[in-house]
Amino acid sequence: MARRRQRRGAAAARAADRDAPARVAAPAGRSRRCAPAGALRLDRPGDAGRHADLRDGRDPERLRPRAAGPGRSAAAPGRLHPDALGPEDRRRARARRPVDGGHGVNPDVRELAAEYARALQGYLAGHGEAALQQAYEVGRQTLAKGLGVLDMATVQHWGLLRALAKSRTPQERSRALRAGQKLCVESLLPFEMAHRRVQEVNTALRDSEHRYRNLVDTARDVIYTLSSDGRLKTLNPVFETITGWSRTEWLGKAFAPLVYPDDLPRAAAMVQAVLAGQAPPMFELRILSRSGSYIPGEFMVTPQIHEGQIVGVLGVARDITDRQRADEALRHLNEALEEEIKRIAHALHDEAGQLLASVHIVLADIARELPTSSSQRLEEVRSLLNKIEEQLRHLSHELRPTILDDLGLQPALEFLADGVSKRTGLRISVAGTPGSRLPPATETALYRIVQEALTNVTRHAQAAHVAIAFSRNGHALCCSIQDDGAGFDVPTTRARRGQRGLGLMGIQERLNAVGGTLNIVSEPGRGTELLITVPVEATSADSHSARR
Ligand SMILES: Nc1ncnc2c1ncn2[C@@H]1O[C@H](COP(=O)(O)OP(=O)(O)O)[C@@H](O)[C@H]1O
Ligand SMILES: [Mg+2]
Repeated sequence: MARRRQRRGAAAARAADRDAPARVAAPAGRSRRCAPAGALRLDRPGDAGRHADLRDGRDPERLRPRAAGPGRSAAAPGRLHPDALGPEDRRRARARRPVDGGHGVNPDVRELAAEYARALQGYLAGHGEAALQQAYEVGRQTLAKGLGVLDMATVQHWGLLRALAKSRTPQERSRALRAGQKLCVESLLPFEMAHRRVQEVNTALRDSEHRYRNLVDTARDVIYTLSSDGRLKTLNPVFETITGWSRTEWLGKAFAPLVYPDDLPRAAAMVQAVLAGQAPPMFELRILSRSGSYIPGEFMVTPQIHEGQIVGVLGVARDITDRQRADEALRHLNEALEEEIKRIAHALHDEAGQLLASVHIVLADIARELPTSSSQRLEEVRSLLNKIEEQLRHLSHELRPTILDDLGLQPALEFLADGVSKRTGLRISVAGTPGSRLPPATETALYRIVQEALTNVTRHAQAAHVAIAFSRNGHALCCSIQDDGAGFDVPTTRARRGQRGLGLMGIQERLNAVGGTLNIVSEPGRGTELLITVPVEATSADSHSARR
């Protein structure tokens, strides 16, 4: 037992000896014993890359040539050891240092040490500036070869040992030591410059991170991240403002209980899609607020990537309560407008029609009392009145065709096209079919959109032909209205704030209210095409019959 303790003590002592710093400032004759090549600690060549604290971002090729001038030797080697390194970092750095058990030393180090020794000799021979430049160059090459500060120390130690070995008197030795100090600083300059560069990069990184943080912290949309198992990893402050929850109540927890139960399958599918590397389109979810009500949100999600792997989901969510309210208000407004149009259409059709009928009766009475020549003139008036009646009837039907309610979109559009065609001479074709009956709001929106588009063609296009075509694409109904007229510059027209017409804007707003989209393809001289899509549910026919 005692012997085992003794052995352990001896082993510890050997290890402590290995870890003790090499002593080099010894008289020439003893230098081999005190610091033989095998006893010097060196960075293993492969270790260079691990000294990330000093070497990250190092680009030896870009290092400035040594600055001439008085300030250059002011650099203190001590600055090579960042204050930021704690005891643990130092312990790890020490552990990485290999003990070179006499199996030879990196040949680069030998070569550099010889060069360094030559610089030292040169300095002692009075070559001042040239020798300092040479020492700086040794430092630069040490860095360029991917070697570390510890290698540099070895190079310096060896160089100094050689110089000391050649010194014969104590005076020569102390001159060599003083020269060694100067060259030591010079050869460390490249390391210091590299270190400063790393610091600059770190500062730039910190600044950039600070800016990013600011952006996230002051964003008006909720920005969040999810782990791959659906837990909330981060949430920005606006989450609290919008939902009333404190972030700490949800961080680290599954997101699912925050989602309205009916929306959960969609939310889960989107997360899965992102984790599988897809980029799903925007989607809407209702989110539980602290008060218990649900807040409508529009979501955009993308993969969160770390070292090339998808590790979670990065999401941005916008509170669309106001937008939904505005859409709702617009829907009400459109409905009120439709009612008003209906009233005017009926007034035109029924009241004006009855008045005209009364005028016909009075004219017939007058005709009986007039001579035949005058009654012929009255006949002309009667025929003009008939034309007015016909026009009024047509107008009232166009304003709110009863066939839109009774027979649906296609017959109503054919009727509209026929009327516009007769009035303007424009050839208008209607191809394809919108399919089964659509919700009334969608049918009315499409009818009004085509009506406005035809008005635009007659007013602005000087076209000869308009083609209206319907097609179905899954759950979307597509409608194209294409003319062969003058065309126009779309971005310029759309940017004409304040003075632009209401027609295209009205089309867009009607589509917003029914969840549709508008795409305008036009160029001056090349005609115009409005491409419209509206979502249609498979149950639209049922819902239509249900409302009747
Ligand atoms: N089919 C078309 N052909 C040529 N120009 C068009 C067409 N449709 C729209 N425009 C252009 O777009 C502009 C905006 O149209 P709109 O919003 O309906 O307002 P408005 O018809 O009251 O001018 C029109 O003034 C016209 O210059
Ligand atoms: Mg218009």
